[in-house]
Amino acid sequence: MGIAITPYSGFKVGAALATKNGKIYTGCNIENPSLMLSICAEKVALMKALSEGEKSFQAMAIVAGNKAYCYPCGSCRQILWEFAKDIDIFLDGSKGIKKYSLSELFPYVFTPVEKTPQQILKYRNKTIESTA
Ligand code: THU
Repeated sequence: MGIAITPYSGFKVGAALATKNGKIYTGCNIENPSLMLSICAEKVALMKALSEGEKSFQAMAIVAGNKAYCYPCGSCRQILWEFAKDIDIFLDGSKGIKKYSLSELFPYVFTPVEKTPQQILKYRNKTIESTA
């Protein structure tokens, strides 16, 4: 989190993604003057892991510099759902650690065709297995 590059928001975020085989990939947010090009800490951690060939994930921890609970943004929830399945999400903040599952934070996911929640769960597992 200390490495975060945040000249525009001043809001520093750190994320740590644990794989099922015990490796940890960290990420921080990196901002750009064209603000839409900024990238969240969670995505950096996930992309680092995916680009190293990791496919099985266990948990992600997220912390913000101001000690406010930093819930992952909608875009991060969608992309984590696609690649990290139903991982546990740990948020560190001023009142201690909060734990959620990703499906609790993001019960519905975008898919190209309309699906029931049950079909979505099946789709998600299939997507993960096919990339594993
Ligand atoms: N940010 C993250 O890194 N993760 C989140 O889940 C929410 C927001 C970053 C993006 C931007 O650099 C700063 O926080 C303020 O929005």
